[in-house]
Amino acid sequence: KTISLIGAPTDVGASVKGASMGPDALRVAGLTEALQARQLQVVDRGNLHGPANPWQEPVNGLRHLKEAIDWNQAVFDAVGQALSDGHLPMMLGGDHCLAIGSISAVAAHCRRAGKKLRVLWFDAHADSNLSTISPTGNIHGMPVACLMGHGPKELIGYGGHTPAMLPHEIRQIGIRSVDAGEKKFIHEMGIQVYDMRYIDEYGIRNTMSSALAGVDANTHIHVSFDMDCLDPQIAPGVGTAVLGGPTYREAQLCMEMIADTGLMGSLDIVELNPALDIRNQTAILAVDLIESLFGKSTLVRI
Ligand code: ARG
Ligand code: MN
Ligand code: MN
Ligand code: MN
Repeated sequence: KTISLIGAPTDVGASVKGASMGPDALRVAGLTEALQARQLQVVDRGNLHGPANPWQEPVNGLRHLKEAIDWNQAVFDAVGQALSDGHLPMMLGGDHCLAIGSISAVAAHCRRAGKKLRVLWFDAHADSNLSTISPTGNIHGMPVACLMGHGPKELIGYGGHTPAMLPHEIRQIGIRSVDAGEKKFIHEMGIQVYDMRYIDEYGIRNTMSSALAGVDANTHIHVSFDMDCLDPQIAPGVGTAVLGGPTYREAQLCMEMIADTGLMGSLDIVELNPALDIRNQTAILAVDLIESLFGKSTLVRI
């Protein structure tokens, strides 16, 4: 399998600056070399280009809408191209608004290929805001709603298909910060959320077994990994940290159980903010987890 690295250096979806440096921090942490050491072919497509962060207040409940549209178009095109090439796209964010473009491209690929889609959304946040209910207007808090067809028209129609994704195609894992309006949206849409309370009560193994239930050889798994999913004690380099996330071992088991399926077809690594990190430790942790996601394990497994 060949992996296409697609850098998307922007923070237009956030109100904390710095996620735009995520792609290079991952490269500095040795992402390409780590994948190559796993016998994977890597093509680094470099960084996409898009508008600068104009650093403005929200307009009609949306901050930097035009910029977010352009960045997501670039991501949609690049991820779609990688999938057409038969590669596994790894989108290096950038803030989480970019998952709109990447998952829209993945969903279009699955429709064409007649594949089932299962999105595993690792996050401290539900990212299910609408412009009318968001407390911040930050579009990185809205990608799940946009992917389900609830959002500004330019953000919900990439590839000419709305909604890009249906509620039964996503599982959210690690959630612990949900705004009041989001709770209602999640409930009404019927999105399956494994929040931290669930993980505390049932453990990470049962959580992942349940999140992966029903996947089969015809399923394309997309992992959208927001680095703020992890506990800030181990992952300080994020803009919107929330206490009480999965530990290092719990995160490793998530990655290993996904690797065991052999079904991951695409990946987002988002919200890494090197400006808030400590000696690149969060990027180094991301690379470590990505190695597990691609099958690195302590012992030979039979
Ligand atoms: N719920 C908050 C908001 O809408 C935080 C979202 C954080 N999202 C993220 N991708 N880090 O602003
Ligand atoms: Mn997120
Ligand atoms: Mn988050
Ligand atoms: Mn595929």
